[in-house]
Amino acid sequence: MTIILAIETSCDETSAAVVENGQTIRSNVVASQIDIHRRYGGVFPEVASRQHILTITTVIQDAMVQARTQWNDLDAVAVTHGPGLAGSLLVGVNAAKGIALALNRPLIGVNHLEGHMVSNWLITDGPVPTPKFPALCLIVSGGHTELVLVHDHLAYEVLGRTLDDAAGEVFDKVARLLGLGYPGGPAVEQAAERGKPDAFDLPRARLRGTLDFSFSGLKTAVLRLVQRYTDKVQAPADALNSQPPCTNRGLPLPLLSMPIADLAASFQQAVVDVLVEKTCQAAEEHDAAEILLAGGVSANSLLRHQMTARARRPVRAPPLFLCTDNAAMTGAAAYYRFMAGQRDGMDLDVIPGLRL
Ligand code: KG4
Ligand code: ZN
Repeated sequence: MTIILAIETSCDETSAAVVENGQTIRSNVVASQIDIHRRYGGVFPEVASRQHILTITTVIQDAMVQARTQWNDLDAVAVTHGPGLAGSLLVGVNAAKGIALALNRPLIGVNHLEGHMVSNWLITDGPVPTPKFPALCLIVSGGHTELVLVHDHLAYEVLGRTLDDAAGEVFDKVARLLGLGYPGGPAVEQAAERGKPDAFDLPRARLRGTLDFSFSGLKTAVLRLVQRYTDKVQAPADALNSQPPCTNRGLPLPLLSMPIADLAASFQQAVVDVLVEKTCQAAEEHDAAEILLAGGVSANSLLRHQMTARARRPVRAPPLFLCTDNAAMTGAAAYYRFMAGQRDGMDLDVIPGLRL
């Protein structure tokens, strides 16, 4: 049996987990910083890094206690070393190095995107998941939108990626435009429940002949619509980066007459259409055995439902609590690296732009 302590601090969640054989979650503690970043309308990198420093020790101790695991029972210490925010990654990497050194156990650096993909192998309350290769994985998070052909564990081929904003990033930006707050994805999804997905005809960038994505045109189209309802027209950059002034009920002042639910539903449908079409196209072109969803945006229920309804291949997605950032996925990915003989030294560095 291989038991790995995994640490994940790439963005705004401080997380530690103990994972057995890459599949069984003994513990998975996630300390979210959402309430702290909400007041800034997005992740404030320096605040995130300081908050990781404050919570990391307690989170790791909790993970060990909840897992009922002794330090000496650990076979390796794994950590996400990229991609992500440099100052945040550094906290996790330094903590992992300290523990690996003290216990004299191997240190294993893991790619955050690989963690998201491998979350599909973690056991939750159903049967043991056994995704078939080659699998076509759509990774949709706050920083990434990638289509990856997974030939086998550790054998990835990136088929396409976003040329501009990531899917989660555009959810967050549109939420800000609509005055829906942070984090944007769940807020837009909730607002969309009351709206009509065909209320506004929004653009879908299909980028024919490629498996790449582009969401900046859609974002700008929503901005233009929002400006129709605002009193004064702001410069696009200002509108995207500032919070609209609020009433004492928290509603954005100049936007009270705006059909927020219809805009949210039409926007969400446009994003989902493109994600589903491109993923199905890639799965057919590469004859994938199944489709995997991963990353924070894969928690979106319209995406999950429409992918399942429209794909001609089986579709698998992690349970909601494993879609957003957590260390269990890091521990799962680390297991395959450990078995393949990867051992990192004390010179393991953070790589904010690390690619698959
Ligand atoms: O994977 P993740 O937790 O962190 C990164 O690696 O970036 O993804 C966070 C992103 C955020 O942009 C958030 O708005 C989005 O995932 N997200 C959602 C939903 N839940 C989280 N987007 C759409 N619908 C959701 N239900
Ligand atoms: Zn993530």
